[in-house]
Amino acid sequence: MLLQGKVAVITGSTSGIGKAGAIVFAQEGAKSVVSGRNRQRGEEVVSIIREQGNEASFIPADMLVVADIERLVKITVDTYGRLDIFWHNAGIVEPDYIENITEEIYDNMMAAHLKAGVFGAKFAVPEMRKAGGGSILFTSSVAGLKQSGYSLTYSLAKTGLVMLTKKLAVDLAKDNIRVNSICPGRVETSMRLSIAEQRGRAMGIDQEEWVRRDKKRIPMGRYITEKEVVDGALFLVSDRASSITGVALPIDGGFLAV
Ligand SMILES: NC(=O)c1ccc[n+]([C@@H]2O[C@H](COP(=O)([O-])OP(=O)(O)OC[C@H]3O[C@@H](n4cnc5c(N)ncnc54)[C@H](OP(=O)(O)O)[C@@H]3O)[C@@H](O)[C@H]2O)c1
Repeated sequence: MLLQGKVAVITGSTSGIGKAGAIVFAQEGAKSVVSGRNRQRGEEVVSIIREQGNEASFIPADMLVVADIERLVKITVDTYGRLDIFWHNAGIVEPDYIENITEEIYDNMMAAHLKAGVFGAKFAVPEMRKAGGGSILFTSSVAGLKQSGYSLTYSLAKTGLVMLTKKLAVDLAKDNIRVNSICPGRVETSMRLSIAEQRGRAMGIDQEEWVRRDKKRIPMGRYITEKEVVDGALFLVSDRASSITGVALPIDGGFLAV
């Protein structure tokens, strides 16, 4: 098992990629802290993990609220005595262009991804230092490495996470804390279906047709599964990646290679 004895916080683990991550991390021996705003879905993830004989707790947190992020780390350490892995995965997406951007959309997008990443790290790092080291992971996106044409603020926030990864990796290497990002391409989650629906409507085609055309842009010709994203995340947070820090790993079926 790759994460035996580790304590891992996974933000945005009430659904999608984070949910799959919390389940797999627990299967690999970690105590998974499931987090998000939706208590019912969070408790369901915890039940799945416990039914498999593994350990998890749900700690609610709104990543737009810095006090919630601090509380998330504090309750984790009060519960399990340490923190080894902090994966900031929670995210939102809005179709915004320069014409329709509002201050509210801008602030929410920056807060959910970038500000939450900064403050998640701020509160996690002292606990990781006490534990003798740790691993921080951010879910960025291919939109953080190549402009996506879909959402201005999403791309900006995800690009910010890539630079945050590099900055923290350099600053925290002396503390034995590794910092990396994953950059998923198109992943089959509720977020992806919502994008397909919105974009299809804007082009006057249905969701299925939009997905069919979208897949043609990916060399592998298909969307990525949640498990494939989690496999990359697991590798980066585990000791298998003990010399890897400061990277932004595309998991995208070749999308960025085109
Ligand atoms: N799906 C894709 O194709 C794709 C591609 C590249 C990158 N990503 C990134 O992958 C991450 C996960 O996305 P997903 O596809 O798994 O989407 P998802 O199924 O919609 O999950 C999003 C998660 O984020 C949480 N969340 C949203 N706003 C939050 C807030 N203010 N506070 C706390 N939690 C919040 C949600 O929990 P609650 O509703 O319980 O709060 C949920 O658990 C995101 O960062 C996304 O940008 C996705």
